[in-house]
Amino acid sequence: MNELDALVESARTGFAQAATPADLENAKARFLGKSGRITELMKGMAALGVGEKKSRGAAINLAKQAIEAALNERRQALLDAELQAQLKAEALDVTLPGRQRGQGGLHPVSLTLERIEAIFGSMGFDVAQGPEIESDWFNFTALNTPEDHPARSMHDTFYVEGGTEAAPNLLRTHTSPMQIRYAVQHVKKHRARVDAAKAKGDTGVAGMPEIRVIAPGRTYRVDSDATHSPMFHQCEGLWVGENVSFKDLKVVFTDFCRTFFESDDLVLRFRPSFFPFTEPSAEIDIQFQQGPLAGRWLEVAGSGQVHPNVVRNMGLDPEHYIGFAFGMGPDRLTMLRYGVNDLRLFFDGDIRFLSQFQ
Ligand code: PHE
Repeated sequence: MNELDALVESARTGFAQAATPADLENAKARFLGKSGRITELMKGMAALGVGEKKSRGAAINLAKQAIEAALNERRQALLDAELQAQLKAEALDVTLPGRQRGQGGLHPVSLTLERIEAIFGSMGFDVAQGPEIESDWFNFTALNTPEDHPARSMHDTFYVEGGTEAAPNLLRTHTSPMQIRYAVQHVKKHRARVDAAKAKGDTGVAGMPEIRVIAPGRTYRVDSDATHSPMFHQCEGLWVGENVSFKDLKVVFTDFCRTFFESDDLVLRFRPSFFPFTEPSAEIDIQFQQGPLAGRWLEVAGSGQVHPNVVRNMGLDPEHYIGFAFGMGPDRLTMLRYGVNDLRLFFDGDIRFLSQFQ
């Protein structure tokens, strides 16, 4: 190998050893720089004769071109490597699923309440909400529950500060106070309509529209075990008119249960019972004909004909108006519908349990 070929070869090796663009520039200086090998060889030609200069110059130029080509090749290789490294570092897997927001959902008892509202809504029932902190007038007295009734005892109810006319003093033990609250408003609105019509000289106003309402919500009692929680839900139902009968209550409630449980052959039983605010009173039991609970009677609601004293407290004449009320437990309905056997699961807030109802 002649001297020039050896020079080109050592430039190639030098460039190949440069791992970074900066190393490469240093290596370049050694061969192509001002005091690099090629420049030195050019200078060395000054001493040569004309003929020799020509051939020597051409040979040096060839070597210089070869070194430049090697340099460019290595430059490009380093740039490519740098780009590859960068692409690798910034790699983005577009096939990965995106980060999603946690998806919430309704609580199983809320799902039941929505269902109850939809079914009774389709039967012409209004939906009303009322206060959870009640006065004993609405919770007991107006509902024909006397002062000395055991339901009023400290052991059965959560009392709070207050207790004057204006200050409610207990956590409602049932949704029945909504019977009075709703009916009183309904009667008032009707009377206002009649008065307004009369003022305009219109005396032929139609009679009062029937009261048909459900009132779902939270209720409280001093009870706590697998089937009782100190906070639980109830849904009241009230139907008052001039011509309503127990038969209507039976039809409506049977229809509701069959729709709610999607079970056309479900059977209902009205078992005589006692509530101070209804007379006669009945517990409503249901019986599934199929499935794991088939044949067992399960209590789902209390009900009865609204007591005349309660009708009076609604502002109506019990000689003309008759009504039926029921109070059911949406928590219980939820347990039956989904086959859950411990009520406390609903209120522990464990997402592993709750997310199963979505
Ligand atoms: N309020 C009663 C209870 O909590 C249920 C009920 C409601 C009974 C309406 C009769 C009529 O047990």
